[in-house]
Order: sequence, then C-alpha cells, then structure tokens
Amino acid sequence: MARGKFITLEGGEGAGKSTQAKKLAAYLKGQGIKTVLTREVGGTETAEAIRKLWLSQDEGCWDKLAELFLIFAARREHLTKVIWPALERGTWVVCDRFMDSTRAYQAKAGPIEELYRMTAGKFAPDLTLLLDTPEDISMERVRARGGWQDRYDLKEAKFHRALRKTYRALAKKYPRRIKIVDARNDADHVAGDVQAIVGKLFRLKT
Ligand code: TMP
Repeated sequence: MARGKFITLEGGEGAGKSTQAKKLAAYLKGQGIKTVLTREVGGTETAEAIRKLWLSQDEGCWDKLAELFLIFAARREHLTKVIWPALERGTWVVCDRFMDSTRAYQAKAGPIEELYRMTAGKFAPDLTLLLDTPEDISMERVRARGGWQDRYDLKEAKFHRALRKTYRALAKKYPRRIKIVDARNDADHVAGDVQAIVGKLFRLKT
C-alpha cells in the first residue's frame, strides 16, 4: 500500500483556507482517494481542547515559550493519532494550517525549528498551498465573516502585511514544497487553481 500524501493549506486571516481545504478534500474523494480533512491547532479531541485553551486567552496572557509548548503538544497529538496513522493506511490528509503557521505567527517566540524536530523529526508536507491575499482583502473578509473573532483576527493592516511577507518568504525558501495560489478571486476560481496544482503534481485524472 502506497503511503498517502500530506497536503497543507496556509495563509493569513481571511484567505479562505477552510473553504479551500473542504473543496480540496471533496475533489480528492471524487478522484476515488481516501481523504481525511483536518486542521491545526486541533484535529484531535485533546488538541482541540488545547486550541480552545490557547486562543480564548488574550494575547500576552501566555508566556511565549509556554505558548509554543501548547502548539507543539497539540501538533504531536495530531501527528501521532491522526496524520501519521492515516498516511500509513494510504489515506491522504488535507490539513488547514500546519508548521508554516508557526513559522509565520510565532517566528520570534522561541526555538520553533528545534521543537519541530523533536515533535515530527524530518516529516514535512508533500505539498503546501499558500493562499495569498493582500491585507486589505484579508481584513475585509474577516470583517464580513463577523461572529466570534480570535485575537489574530482583530489585528490591523500592519500585522496582516507582515504575515503575508513572512509567508511569501517561506515560499521562496521552500519553492518545491510551497506553491502560491492567488486567493483574491472567488472561491470556485481558487478551487480550480488548487485542483490544477494538485492534479498536476500527483498526476491525477482531470
Ligand atoms: P484559523 O485562522 O485557521 O482558525 O487558526 C486560528 C489561529 O491560530 C490563527 O490566527 C493562526 C493561529 N496559529 C498560530 O498562531 N500558530 C500555529 O502554529 C497555528 C497552526 C495557528
């Protein structure tokens, strides 16, 4: 049995990751591929509990390193209980955020690469789709979404701009793994672009 593929979706706030993750999982299932759709921080009961604990607090409430331990504890739970077993079974995994989010959001919080190696060794996504949006669109979409907003949603333009810059720098650093998708267009258009990249890379039927 061939190992499954691990595909992650990344991007700033309001980039449409969750919608695209759902659409991608549906597309893969339509291709007859067993697929699990999951997310970080979260993906298991324990990791979702950590997410709640972490995001419901105001920024600055957590010590930076303690915050990293929470994220990596959740990631380890997710990897060992969901992601790795699925890949072993030949199931593909579509994950809404993964380590690149830590690189983008917690870049200066501590030894993130060292913690990653302890948590996951040399494991990395087979493909990362970076949904790229200028900050004005990110902010507009977050506003339009309404409802409960977490502490990152509430940040202003400068934060979104810096986040985008970091993500784009990551795409430059890992050009084989990270593909940039223009996420300014409507969801169906973006989904078409995502499918084209995935279909070509993994040689799927169109
Ligand atoms: P979401 O936007 O996908 O719902 O994710 C919730 C927040 O978690 C989002 O603002 C980004 C943040 N996050 C980090 O700061 N570091 C991480 O490693 C991950 C996975 C998410």
